[in-house]
Amino acid sequence: MTRPLLVDTDPGCDDALAILLALEHADLEVVGLTTVHGNAPVDATTHNARAVLELVERPDVPVSRGADLPLISPLETAEHIHGIDGIRGDLPEPSSATQPVDSHAAQFIVEQARAHEGELTVAAVGPLTNVALALAIEPELPALLDELIVMGGAAFAPGNVTPLAEANFHSDPEAAHRVVRDADPTVIGLDVTRRATLPASWIEGLPRDDPLGRSIYEWATYYTEAVLERYGLETAAIHDALAIAQVVDEDILELESHFMEVGIDSELDRGALVCDPHGVTGERPNGRVAVDNDVDVDRYRELVIDAVDRALEVQ
Ligand code: RIB
Ligand code: CA
Repeated sequence: MTRPLLVDTDPGCDDALAILLALEHADLEVVGLTTVHGNAPVDATTHNARAVLELVERPDVPVSRGADLPLISPLETAEHIHGIDGIRGDLPEPSSATQPVDSHAAQFIVEQARAHEGELTVAAVGPLTNVALALAIEPELPALLDELIVMGGAAFAPGNVTPLAEANFHSDPEAAHRVVRDADPTVIGLDVTRRATLPASWIEGLPRDDPLGRSIYEWATYYTEAVLERYGLETAAIHDALAIAQVVDEDILELESHFMEVGIDSELDRGALVCDPHGVTGERPNGRVAVDNDVDVDRYRELVIDAVDRALEVQ
C-alpha cells in the first residue's frame, strides 16, 4: 500500500534531492509538486521543479504553481546559496510534458486533500505561503490530511537567516505562524536537519558522466566552503530530504508534542519558532517537533543513497 504524498517545494538543491527520494521510494506515491517562492522567485522554482521531473523522467507528476509573494513580508530569495537560477546542476529545459496544471497550488493542495480523504501527507519544504493559503481556503485541511510535515524552524537550535529564524519560516513568518498555530504540523527544523549530511566519499564517487549524475553531485555539494565553515560541516545539509525520509521511516527522528508559536512581531523574532517544552504558557500542544536526540543519520543516508542509486540505474 503506497502512501500518497504531495511535496510543496521551492527547488532548491536540497529540495531536488528530497523530490528524488520521494519519487524513488516504493512506499510513496507522489501525487504532485506545488511550487512556492523561496530559494528563488516562484517562476524559477516552478521551472526548476519541472526540470527535475524531466531529468528523472517523471513528467507524469503534476506541477502546480503557487505563491509569488509571502503574505506580508517582502520577497526574499537565496540564489546566493542555491545558484543564480535557484538550483545548480545540468538540468533540461522543461517541455510541454510538465506544463503546470491550471489550479493554483493552494487550491491544488485542497483538491488533493479532499480527493485522498484523509490519506494524503503534505511535505512542505519551502516557505509556508501555499499551505497557509490552502488553510484559508479550507479550514478543515488538517482533518483532511493524514499528516502535514514541515521542514522549517529551529526549535532549540540557532537560526540560519537570523539568530532565531530558519529560512523557510523567515521567508514568510505570517504563513508559518498560521500553519504552526492551526494546522497540527510535524515540524522538522534545523535542530535535526543540520545533521542531514551525506558522506563526502559517496558524494565524490557519484558518476558525473551524465546530466543526472552531475546534477545530483551539484545538489549534494551546494554549500560553499564559507557556508560549510560557518556551520562546521564537512558536507552540505540536505535539509528537505530529511522531511521525506521521516515520511518513509518515522523512527529516524524523535518527535515531541509541544505548544509552538512563530514570531511575527519584531525584526528580532520574525520567523522564530518558539517551543514550550515545559508547558509554562499553559497552552495545549499544537504539533510535534523533531528533537535532536539520536537522529538516525545512517538510516537517513541509506534512504537517500538507495534512491540515488535507483535513479542512476534507470538512466
Ligand atoms: O533552511 C533550510 C530550508 O530553506 C530548506 O528548505 C532549503 O531548501 C531552503 O528552502
Ligand atoms: Ca526548500
